[in-house]
Amino acid sequence: MVTKCIKVTPPVFTGLDEAANALKNGKLVAFPTETVYGLGANALDESAVKSIFAAKGRPSDNPLIVHIADISTLKLLVTTIKPEAEKLIHAFWPGPLTLIFEKSPNVPMVTTGGLNTVAVRMPDHPVALELINKAGVPVAAPSANRSGKPSPTLAEHVMEDMDGRIPYIIDAGPCRVGVESTVLDVTENTPVILRPGGVTFEEIKNTIGQVKQYKAEASVEMINSPKSPGMKYVHYAPKGKVIVVSGKKNVFEWINKKTSEDEKNSIKAVVVAADENIANYSTGIKMSYGSIGNPQEAAANIFRIFRDCDRLGAEKIYIEAIPEYGIGYAVMNRIKKAAGGKVVYLE
Ligand code: TXA
Ligand code: MG
Repeated sequence: MVTKCIKVTPPVFTGLDEAANALKNGKLVAFPTETVYGLGANALDESAVKSIFAAKGRPSDNPLIVHIADISTLKLLVTTIKPEAEKLIHAFWPGPLTLIFEKSPNVPMVTTGGLNTVAVRMPDHPVALELINKAGVPVAAPSANRSGKPSPTLAEHVMEDMDGRIPYIIDAGPCRVGVESTVLDVTENTPVILRPGGVTFEEIKNTIGQVKQYKAEASVEMINSPKSPGMKYVHYAPKGKVIVVSGKKNVFEWINKKTSEDEKNSIKAVVVAADENIANYSTGIKMSYGSIGNPQEAAANIFRIFRDCDRLGAEKIYIEAIPEYGIGYAVMNRIKKAAGGKVVYLE
């Protein structure tokens, strides 16, 4: 299959009609959202949705997010919209918040991975909204990476993973947010964050008063402690070993010592650090994730950095932990997953 890449520069949407028609007719189209690129199919077309799982190499029991461009479509997909959900929709849609509802019979089980609930979001990206509108169908879309690779934040990343596997990629440049949407289950009495993302815990709490953070995947262990059984799956991982280092003042010395040992052993090491700190590192390839005070920059850069590390053949990747406030919490969640849940804590 030849993959056609269509460049779109809003507010001009030339070229989208062809992709929208393909989408409506059961074909796959990768498209930009404000978070990451998605791999879209008509959410109501079982065989189209099945081809998403095949192209990604994704297990069929991992449910997809359905993307919509207007609220009237939501009513076709779900049975009830609780008052809290309405408040959240009002506050954050379009935007990086995915809500889990009881699904209506219109949504096929393949889309929801066999669950009776459905995940829905309205993306805050002019190209995504225009594409969904033109296709006239709700669009099921996971992140457009091959399973186990970092989510794509550039069309080039989608090309790397999907060239020859899908008919269309729409390129509208880098994604603004850079980490995926927050997934919030609003079927529970107290809504639960299943995945931290672009909308923060604090923002949700301020809107509906109460919210819980699901903890199972976020357990953090000391590097030398016995392995925790829940952490056997590594997600979003670059090929090199990721080592996250947290602490106040010994981080530079610790990482410098390690990278100079790596150098002696001809191990290719990368150091990922804040702009303000990068000059403190002496050996290894240096990459900045942005300013310490602005976790949004780290969010926008982290998945690209992981892919750049793979391209360079990095064998070890040392990452300075970033402060876990605001979107920094979601960024650290992705970094910790890439590190298999381990963090090196220094005094
Ligand atoms: O920002 C995003 O959310 C991106 C863009 C493309 O919208 N999409 C994305 O999709 O990250 P994906 O498939 O990579 O992640 C969807 C997450 C998965 O962790 C999945 O298990 C969860 O949402 N999910 C989907 N439907 C669910 C459901 N009914 N119940 C619980 N979790 C669900
Ligand atoms: Mg994904």
